[in-house]
Amino acid sequence: MKAMHPVARFADLREDRGTAVKIEDIDILLLRVGDEARAFQAKCPHAGAPLAEGAVCQGRLACPWHKASFAVDDGSLCEPPALDALQRYPVEVRDGEVLVGSEPLAPQTAVTRPDDRLFIIVGAGAAGTAAAAALREFGFGGRLLLIGREPGEPYDRTALSKFVLQGDKAPEETPPLRDADFFRQQRIERLHAEVVRLDAQARQLQLSNGQTLTYGGCVLATGGNPRPLAVPGADLEGIHLLRTRADAAAILADLPAEGRAVIVGASFIGLEAASALRKQGLAVDVVSTASLPFVKQMGETLGQHFKTLHEANGVIFHAPNEVVAFEGDGRVRQVLLRDGSRLSAELVLVGTGIAPETGFIANLPLADDGSVPVDAQLKAAEGLYAVGDLATFPFAGQPTRIEHWRLAQQHGRLAARNLLGQAESYADVPFFWTLHHGKRYEYLGHPRHWDDMHLDGSLGDQSFVALLLAEDLVVGVVACQRERATAILAQLMRQPLPRARALAVLAAD
Ligand SMILES: Cc1cc2nc3c(=O)[nH]c(=O)nc-3n(C[C@H](O)[C@H](O)[C@H](O)COP(=O)(O)OP(=O)(O)OC[C@H]3O[C@@H](n4cnc5c(N)ncnc54)[C@H](O)[C@@H]3O)c2cc1C
Ligand code: FES
Repeated sequence: MKAMHPVARFADLREDRGTAVKIEDIDILLLRVGDEARAFQAKCPHAGAPLAEGAVCQGRLACPWHKASFAVDDGSLCEPPALDALQRYPVEVRDGEVLVGSEPLAPQTAVTRPDDRLFIIVGAGAAGTAAAAALREFGFGGRLLLIGREPGEPYDRTALSKFVLQGDKAPEETPPLRDADFFRQQRIERLHAEVVRLDAQARQLQLSNGQTLTYGGCVLATGGNPRPLAVPGADLEGIHLLRTRADAAAILADLPAEGRAVIVGASFIGLEAASALRKQGLAVDVVSTASLPFVKQMGETLGQHFKTLHEANGVIFHAPNEVVAFEGDGRVRQVLLRDGSRLSAELVLVGTGIAPETGFIANLPLADDGSVPVDAQLKAAEGLYAVGDLATFPFAGQPTRIEHWRLAQQHGRLAARNLLGQAESYADVPFFWTLHHGKRYEYLGHPRHWDDMHLDGSLGDQSFVALLLAEDLVVGVVACQRERATAILAQLMRQPLPRARALAVLAAD
């Protein structure tokens, strides 16, 4: 038997968080589960967050950074953005001492059920890749085809407006979601192609090369395309949109050594890009129809906080205002605003939202915004599911479309379960993160309205949790540098969360 190493006193382990220990240079996380201990890898399989800084709550370990969660019993994956279970280590408690072995236990492998159906996933982004991985994780043994029109392995596009645009990572270093070996080992066939027609009745997909495929089950995960501005001069060189690695590469290739960039739209992507381009040394103007950013999602106090933060970092807002034309001689030189003023510009980035990518769908009813309406199980038609940015699904009693990375992956996993015969609905808390001038902000929930805000901490110090409350229940959370608290709140908000309970969490943080 392999040696077991004493690493901690059992009495020192807490039930509400993990404890980091080391054996032979291996970082291990210890959890206390009732009278027993568990030992797992200490870093999150998503992007390496120290899991000891997360929280244990309701039988789950939640990652501090992007709120992936794992079952405390066996480390299995509960929620993305991680796509893997935690590696487990042998552990025992002897005379009050916790002993851990340095050889990881063999991973639990899914029992694969033979299946003669072909499942096709259209779109190899957040939702599509998660759906493909989950189908194998849940035991689908049939043929699995993942079709995507972007070249290369699927990647984390959330990094584009952050680390890539600010020059910390080259576009080709954008973190991959899965490598080629994974797809090979999992027998997930990758097809670099564009689907040009879906016939939901005939269950057929037509590809740009003329090939027709008939599916047993299909997941639509084609996301959306950024909307260009419909104003004169919109086709001038130097005006960019940002959705793909290729878009980011084009922006970087076009980046002047100095000069002015104009960002159109104070959206999350617009302001992340403003922050990144300031870091690249450009002067940045932001034009927005709303006087304050993010008011719809966060309210005026926090909207003002973000405006002040960007202004303190040199960003100049022109709001409320509107772009009415771009001017230049082949390349954009000036941006004309509704009030008659002109901004000089060496580069323009338009970040005014996306249109769901559903133009290839022949015979499904679409919602007014062009998205695919689905039922609570994400089903759009027999054998057909729609997930991620392109899906309008019932959430909190209303048809809702949410453009978040983690939610897209959750959708992908849910569709995989339901394709395999389950009938599960979305039951988690929407979450996203956003990066501005080096600070990571987190957002929980998807509230349409709230009647009160409770601020714990200081906006000025960029260390706070703001609770958005409706009738004394927490319906949304905005936070900065309070990652353990938000990890707990993310779990608790799965049920109605009264103000008093949330305040107790913040007091204990
Ligand atoms: C720059 C940027 C930064 C972001 N930052 C954050 C963030 O910090 N946090 C957050 O929560 N969210 C963020 N988002 C939003 C998040 O990335 C999206 O919500 C998420 O990617 C949606 O996943 P999806 O699978 O629905 O679509 P996508 O990830 O866009 O994947 C769709 C894929 O389908 C492909 N496709 C489309 N049509 C076809 C077709 N006909 N045939 C074949 N393939 C097709 C597309 O090329 C694409 O690769 C960001 C988005 C962008 C663009
Ligand atoms: S590092 Fe854990 S979810 Fe991202």
